[in-house]
Amino acid sequence: MGRILIVDDHDSLRKGLVKALSNAGHDVEDAPNGTGAIERLQGGQFDVVLTDLRMGGADGMDVLRTARSVQPDAAVILMTAFGSIHTAVEAMKMGAIDFVQKPFEIEEMELKIEKAIDLRHLKNQVDYLRHAQEDLYDVDRIVGGSGALKQVLGVVSKVARSNSTILIRGETGTGKELIAGAIHHNSMRANKAFVKVNCAALQENLLESELFGHEKGAFTSADKQRIGRFEQADGGSLFLDEVGDMSQSTQAKILRVLQEHEFERLGGTRTVRVDVRIITATNRNLSQMVQDGLFREDLFYRLNVVSLEMPPLRDRKDDIPALAEFFVHRFSAELKKRVDCIDPEAQKVLMRHHWPGNIRELENVVERAVLLTEGEAITTDDLQIGDQASAASGQRSIVVKIPPTGIPLEEIERQAVMEALKMSNWIQKDAANLLGISPRVMNYKIKILNIEIPGSRRHVPASMASDEGRRGSRAGTSGLARSRV
Ligand SMILES: Nc1ncnc2c1ncn2[C@@H]1O[C@H](COP(=O)(O)OP(=O)(O)OP(=O)(O)O)[C@@H](O)[C@H]1O
Ligand SMILES: [Mg+2]
Repeated sequence: MGRILIVDDHDSLRKGLVKALSNAGHDVEDAPNGTGAIERLQGGQFDVVLTDLRMGGADGMDVLRTARSVQPDAAVILMTAFGSIHTAVEAMKMGAIDFVQKPFEIEEMELKIEKAIDLRHLKNQVDYLRHAQEDLYDVDRIVGGSGALKQVLGVVSKVARSNSTILIRGETGTGKELIAGAIHHNSMRANKAFVKVNCAALQENLLESELFGHEKGAFTSADKQRIGRFEQADGGSLFLDEVGDMSQSTQAKILRVLQEHEFERLGGTRTVRVDVRIITATNRNLSQMVQDGLFREDLFYRLNVVSLEMPPLRDRKDDIPALAEFFVHRFSAELKKRVDCIDPEAQKVLMRHHWPGNIRELENVVERAVLLTEGEAITTDDLQIGDQASAASGQRSIVVKIPPTGIPLEEIERQAVMEALKMSNWIQKDAANLLGISPRVMNYKIKILNIEIPGSRRHVPASMASDEGRRGSRAGTSGLARSRV
């Protein structure tokens, strides 16, 4: 139900409407002329303004103009007499959302009002979502404070406002699409479209039709004209995801848009000009693809004007706690659960995992855990990730590869200790736990194996280490270090 203002100098019609719409549950006010309506518009908020077009003094157009300026969200519907259709069309151009010709059935008017109110709610929702979306892309709200991420965000804030083409590289799930969105939403084009196309998802012809559109009859199933993504993105940004997966023909067409800002729709002869900023992403090695003749070199240089490398999650483990907490709160709200943290043991498991699927994998693990857990804190039992899953099924096997030239046992031990330390984020007690030794033995091994702990710099000078320790570290630089524990 909504708040409605009815404006008409025809008393009985106005009073009839007031009665009918009040009976339908709306909160209704009325004014007998344009001047009265303008006063009311300045006094309070309305969802719908229903106004006669021709009135003495200020007329319906004046009411419309005032409504547009003081209450731009109010929906204005005009009531017109026969013969004034031309003015009604003018009014629609000025922002009225509908008109109805007199005489009309009251049911018809009720329906139009319901529709106007629904539309207004929808618009509010869209505005809300757009706002929420902008929040998500707000550089300050991208979760994580690791040096690696900060470096990327630093470049983003420098280049976002320029028009440069940007290539975002990185493994799957590292946040390439999120960063592309952040670039657009922090650019001068933020209030224009941000259009995304996944180049790997479509075959050559379909991808070209998706990108450039087609004319009716361009191919068998083209039964009507279609506007492509480039045209949709005019004035805004186009995000080409998986850009390494395009055919040579598509590559040539993209190059032309980059160079000349123009193209033709498939099956068309008219040249379409666009102003689009291109942001691309790939998890493939494009420069290698150039060397292998799979990707055009000229296009590569055009796309690679600014290049961003999204660091894998295992290289920014500092971000894991904040990201995990962020996902816990998000999924807890989405799934209507009361989960609000991750217990310390489960945190350690998250820190130790290698995260080949990066942030998306973490997101999925946390979502599943929030769904499964019965308490308010996520425990190790709720986490189903690589090493947990294999530990649960009793799989604890590892592969030790010994090079043909041999390797000192001590070097294998050194690598095992290093791996355990890295998995434990360099917390010695936890690393000791992983290897089933006491913290004291771990401390001894670190000294004897000459292992440097980042940050604390607990490095034992070579002169103080035992002979064996030094031999170990020599082996580490002799090329044998490739062998993995
Ligand atoms: N720093 C971050 N803060 C919060 N959420 C993030 C962050 N980085 C990534 N995400 C989330 O992780 C998921 C994966 O990110 P995104 O889709 O951007 O990765 P991608 O690199 O494009 O992956 P792919 O190569 O598989 O397409 C998304 O749900 C994204 O919202
Ligand atoms: Mg992606």
